[in-house]
Amino acid sequence: MSVLIALIILLFNSCLGESEKYVIGISQCSQDEWREKQNAEMEQESRFYPNLELKVLSAKDDNERQIRDIQQLIDQKVNLLIVSPNEGKAITPIVEKAYDAGIPIIVIDRKVMSDKYTAFIGADNIQIGEAMGEYIQSLGNEPLRLFEVCGLEGSTSAQERTQGLYNVIGRLNHIERMGSIDASWRMEDAEYKMDSVFNLHPDINFIVAQNDRMAIGAFRAARRHRLEKGIRFIGVDALTNKDFGVDQVMQGNMAATFIYPTGGDVVIQTAMHILNREPFERDVTLSSAQVDVTNARIMMLQDALVKQSSERMNQLSEQLDSFLQQRNVQNILVASFIVIILNFAAL
Ligand code: FRU
Repeated sequence: MSVLIALIILLFNSCLGESEKYVIGISQCSQDEWREKQNAEMEQESRFYPNLELKVLSAKDDNERQIRDIQQLIDQKVNLLIVSPNEGKAITPIVEKAYDAGIPIIVIDRKVMSDKYTAFIGADNIQIGEAMGEYIQSLGNEPLRLFEVCGLEGSTSAQERTQGLYNVIGRLNHIERMGSIDASWRMEDAEYKMDSVFNLHPDINFIVAQNDRMAIGAFRAARRHRLEKGIRFIGVDALTNKDFGVDQVMQGNMAATFIYPTGGDVVIQTAMHILNREPFERDVTLSSAQVDVTNARIMMLQDALVKQSSERMNQLSEQLDSFLQQRNVQNILVASFIVIILNFAAL
């Protein structure tokens, strides 16, 4: 009889299509609205794979903490790692260690100083810097006294955005470089540091911030000095949340921002290709675009539509989950019933 029961269980399990379970460990360098959007996209995409579990850790801009996080995920024997390195140089050895231990690794957004990774997914930050430079170039020959508010010095996205910017504006004579600060990607740091910068250079008239949060921080400092009207601010990210980049462009506080795509869905799709041993692209470049007063409103509207349909999709997926759960219960009841009948028959 026990053989019979085992057979029935096996039959029902195979009907439900049980497949190998995967755990993906995600080590994020930071915790902010851009990361939240990316994490939400990854969570949402993971719902397409019922056999997939995500474990997300955030190092809150701290290299040591990120090294510990990645070690913890290695110890937990995750099937695949997704890492956005805080500072490339510091995080490279632990990424190499995981890779050497045979764990596939997808590096996202910022880079490591090594080839030991399975795939890289992110935008081209040199190109984004160049796009900022081209925006400045498009303004004509009016003299600009330009100040740069940079992201964390050791992060490759900051290095590459600066490189791209100077690829273009380095050859323009009407631009005077007034200096730069490292504001670690944070609004508060930018606001605090720019406060002293404005004491020294109240004549700055153009600020290139490497993300929108820092552009907003610099704007706030300028407003305190009553200088904001005479300065143009540009940033990167173009999030559509209230008071973030696109909204700031609509409010007239920022002149432009550049989309820094989060691409969480592509990251999970690539991870699943790797885990299922299917072909995948090793280097995926996500595309960017300029957002200014001419297209900010369209972007807001389109984003609202995307949010609406993704909420509907979530509802649908919840309904499906509960339907499948009900079906599971029904299956178990039917199986038990069959076992009881067979038991009787055997008597
Ligand atoms: C998010 C973020 C973005 C920025 C990116 C650079 O954590 O700070 O604002 O564009 O990282 O890697």
